[in-house]
Amino acid sequence: MHRVITIPAHPASSSHANALEFCHQLEAGNILLFPQSPIALTAEDLAFLRGLEHSHRSLHKNLAYKPLQDRIAGAKLASDDPAASQRLLHILRGYSRSTLQFLTEFLSPYTTRWQVDYASFRPLEEQGRSLPLHKRNDLLHTDAFPTRPTHGARILRFFTNIHPTQSREWVVGEPFRTLIPQMVPATTPAPRADGSLQRAVRSTLGRTPLGRAWPALRRSPYDQFMLRFHDVLKENADYQTNGQHTAVSLPPGSSWMVYTDSVPHAVLSGRFALEQTLLVAPEAMVAPEESPLAVLESLAGHRLV
Ligand SMILES: [Fe+2]
Repeated sequence: MHRVITIPAHPASSSHANALEFCHQLEAGNILLFPQSPIALTAEDLAFLRGLEHSHRSLHKNLAYKPLQDRIAGAKLASDDPAASQRLLHILRGYSRSTLQFLTEFLSPYTTRWQVDYASFRPLEEQGRSLPLHKRNDLLHTDAFPTRPTHGARILRFFTNIHPTQSREWVVGEPFRTLIPQMVPATTPAPRADGSLQRAVRSTLGRTPLGRAWPALRRSPYDQFMLRFHDVLKENADYQTNGQHTAVSLPPGSSWMVYTDSVPHAVLSGRFALEQTLLVAPEAMVAPEESPLAVLESLAGHRLV
């Protein structure tokens, strides 16, 4: 079962041995929690972010910052209020850079072997959101990006709860390695009654047309499988209700990180979170056999990327 590993203080310079251990803990499916976030934000910036939803009714979803292009996705806020848009850009750029700077040392075995993905601000209360099933955050799922295939790279996410008083309430499920044997038959569109797990995986992967829906994306069979797996978990009411779950409370002012492509997670409540995503190269894993790619390739019996 996953564990939450609390890191009470973050030393200015952590040793390589410590960093290696943190990578191990993450790859084993644990959550690293900093009760006091190592990422500093000014009181003014926090107040601005918390006030944004009230002052801009058009904000209805997560705001994504694209570090490589240094811009915020979606032009609505920019056209409605250029000054607010510029300030938001400044804050998210700062959060993204500070987080990357922190992780460069904290997870030094990964440094230079990750691709910097989006950062985001999540202003809305998660409890009671009305979303289509596959987009719901309050159902256990593993992450997979429909428009950004990773080709086996791991999805590592660093979050910060910037609500002044309210915890962000998560539930996490059992690890990918033990979950997959229970779920793969459901992932397979038409599992054979006598099919072994290995055949079920092969069958699912054998039916994944490379990049059919998004030809330009060139999704690998691995990406196809992970996308389907995301949906399968959310569709499975029995798993959602009776699967092995643990509640995890993320306090105000804390940060945490986790491999969200292998740790099933659901957000039950909370608002005002910042987040930075990294795509870590499979070759950088300190325990490559734990990765979803390795687990699936051993079941499939051939390479999937
Ligand atoms: Fe997620």
